[in-house]
Amino acid sequence: MNVGIDKIGFFTPNYYVDMVDLANARNENPNKYLIGIGQTEQAVIPNTQDTVTMAANAALQVIDDSNRDKISLIILGTETGIDNSKSGAIYLQNLLGLSRHARAFEIKQACYGATAGIQMAKEFVNLHPNQQALVVGADVARYGVRTAGEVTQGGGAVAMTIAADSTILKLSKNSSVYSDDIMDFWRPLNRTEALVDGHYSNDIYQQFFVKTIHDYLQTNDMNLTDLSALVFHLPYTKMGLKGLREILPELSETDQKHFLSEFEASRVYNKRVGNLYTGSLYLSLLSLLDNSDDLHAGDQIGIFSYGSGAQGEFYTGTLQPGFKNSQRKKQINEILNQRTRLTVPEYETMFAQWPKLDAGDYHLDDLKDHSQFTFTGVNEGKRQYQTKA
Ligand code: HMG
Repeated sequence: MNVGIDKIGFFTPNYYVDMVDLANARNENPNKYLIGIGQTEQAVIPNTQDTVTMAANAALQVIDDSNRDKISLIILGTETGIDNSKSGAIYLQNLLGLSRHARAFEIKQACYGATAGIQMAKEFVNLHPNQQALVVGADVARYGVRTAGEVTQGGGAVAMTIAADSTILKLSKNSSVYSDDIMDFWRPLNRTEALVDGHYSNDIYQQFFVKTIHDYLQTNDMNLTDLSALVFHLPYTKMGLKGLREILPELSETDQKHFLSEFEASRVYNKRVGNLYTGSLYLSLLSLLDNSDDLHAGDQIGIFSYGSGAQGEFYTGTLQPGFKNSQRKKQINEILNQRTRLTVPEYETMFAQWPKLDAGDYHLDDLKDHSQFTFTGVNEGKRQYQTKA
């Protein structure tokens, strides 16, 4: 059996702010944002999209008549859920018309949630090879206008199906995990914006990466050169580069160049979206698959997941013959290229329109939002979703 990722899809809303515009508005040197942070564009999330609609819009790309009835596990990894009790996965199941005979639930551990979902789905499919799991990472990353974290905001969703005969990436049996009680990034219940100790979070990320990759290689009797590329959780793309640089000295000059070149392929999409929290690592995987010219079926990819608070996990995957998909690449580039560029004041207005936690009932006009699934407000405390024809 080749249990692993069978299909992968991505969604981000229709708006972005350009990082040079943002740098100019904040009196920063644009190269700080473009090179120092490694971002060129940042997704701006309108109030007619939330974790549920973005997850459903991404999942449309991975659910069709061939697998709809086989999905019997639906996991939503998110840290920006829409209810303190009911899981977004139940809404997702309903919007997508998935089987009622499915387990549907949500997982939270900062940006690690989708990885927890994938690992759980892998075990499930190993036990039930005729069934499939849908795992989605969806989030809105918000720190606040004029904060140090502003340049690392973003949002979107990555949806994956996990199947016994995966066409994209067979998942390794083993992982190396490491967790500790760390206050590097968190979001108290009364806040829509995260609190963060930014430089400390960078340090912990790097420490967890080094610990888990070394443990994985040692435990599985492997060398770094057994891997053809590494993908990282990318809260901003320079963060992955910082991680990679931790282990480059262990490689020859030729191998260093190779890993750096694969890293460039793995950040093409993330540079244009920013942080999607749970989805960031898997957007980077997608970016690598679509933009590397140097990968082949059978190659092993190292995968580093990090969620503040903090949980780290390193595992690997083996590329399957169907990992390249020109149609998927075309679709993702269309999603990114067709977005509307907002001015900085327009972005600030949209950011301020994000619903307050105590907003009560309200109605949102979704006429300008052409996504298939939209959020249209709250009625008698119940969230309202629309499916467009
Ligand atoms: P800052 O203090 O504004 O930036 O915060 P800085 O002064 O550290 O500069 C950033 C980089 O730009 C530096 O490079 C500068 O040298 C460089 P570095 O030393 O880091 O390699 N720089 C320039 N480069 C070229 N030309 C120039 C120039 N000027 C400066 N002219 C920080 C940056 C990322 C800390 C901030 O934005 C922040 O707090 N972000 C949020 C936290 C975050 O993303 N942490 C990442 C690790 S934690 C994580 O990944 C989990 C997370 O996703 C949440 C979750 O798990 O749910 C966040």
